[in-house]
Amino acid sequence: MANSPRSLAWIEKQSEDLRESGLWRRRSVRSGPQTAELALDGRRLVNFSSNDYLGLAADPRLAEAARTALANGWGSGASPLISGYSHEHRDLEIQLAEFEGTEAALLAPSGFAANSGSIAALAGPGDVVFTDRKNHASLLDGCRLSRADVRSYSHADCQRLRRLLGRSTGYRRRLIVTDSLFSMDGDLAPLVELADLAERHEAMLLIDEAHATGVFGDHGRGVAEQLGVDDRIPIRIGTLSKALGSVGGFIAGSRVLIEWLVNRARPYLFSTAPPAAMAAAGRAALEIVRDEPWRRQGLLQRAGQLRRQLNEHGWNVVNSASQIIPLVVGEPGRAVAISQSLLERGYYVPAIRPPTVPDGESCLRISLTCGHSEEMVAGLIGALDDLGGRGAVRVCP
Ligand SMILES: Cc1ncc(COP(=O)(O)O)c(C=O)c1O
Repeated sequence: MANSPRSLAWIEKQSEDLRESGLWRRRSVRSGPQTAELALDGRRLVNFSSNDYLGLAADPRLAEAARTALANGWGSGASPLISGYSHEHRDLEIQLAEFEGTEAALLAPSGFAANSGSIAALAGPGDVVFTDRKNHASLLDGCRLSRADVRSYSHADCQRLRRLLGRSTGYRRRLIVTDSLFSMDGDLAPLVELADLAERHEAMLLIDEAHATGVFGDHGRGVAEQLGVDDRIPIRIGTLSKALGSVGGFIAGSRVLIEWLVNRARPYLFSTAPPAAMAAAGRAALEIVRDEPWRRQGLLQRAGQLRRQLNEHGWNVVNSASQIIPLVVGEPGRAVAISQSLLERGYYVPAIRPPTVPDGESCLRISLTCGHSEEMVAGLIGALDDLGGRGAVRVCP
């Protein structure tokens, strides 16, 4: 076939292998807005799949802010260091720094770019980076890109990290990187202990608050604020694309850090600035996070209730302490089958499989938002019970 050159024949073979092991993925098409109920491939479903934790993705105030900024056109036309950096981008950075309580902030095209670009700008050959085994792919890719030595420690294991730090002498710089709220397990990193270790061993500490920004902490800054260590963590990364219902990532920290990243973070330097309208929507979202704390408070309260209810119904939610609640079922095929059965009952709870999670830890990832009603949550529990009741899901320890 003209479009399938022999040099790509290996793809067909490897795709078949993925299909056979239950790891093949396909996209569904959403029509209409991203809300607690959505239309996917033409089917109306209660949506437990989105990261739109505060229900802002379809909030008209974000759309209105973007529409107003569109008066100056859509495209940015250049990277930020050439001529792509507009008033809207700058104002959002000022607002992000205020929100985070830091000297400065930098807007990146995505959370992925913020993570990978920052790590590679802060560590290099001759340095060592310590990374939690369950860190997000963007942190792991940043470690690889940096060409520093990489030491991974088992999930949230501070004893292990302490030993690794003690053994890693002779390096120019050390950097510890971690998610603050783990995106698949929904548990929190031990940030107090990590801050202690970083200080004791003179290591830089970078945390990724992607799923916690807007949700945790009195002001919605994230887990570091919740645990009272935000001023002890010099490199704090967040994203506008989850609870803030928009798109784009950011880094908050000292002016020196931010100016360094402006000069050295390659995804920032070598990528066109996102549209100014996106920055305008991000500002509107930050204002809502500031003015409507009931969204995060209600969400976390409802998440606590759901975790308790799931436990009472015999489901093990592992170590979740947040709005992300995994039901670990082990094999990918099993996760897909349960997800499919829920879909037939009108509930969308995606199956999460390797490489997103380690082998043997495929799960159903329940993602709660403040748009879910009590009826929706009760309906989900009922549908899970229908699938076989207590113990239907074998939970990994
Ligand atoms: C923990 C974590 N960090 C970073 C990202 C990337 O953020 P973004 O979607 O803004 O690129 C994600 C996205 O899924 C994530 O889960």
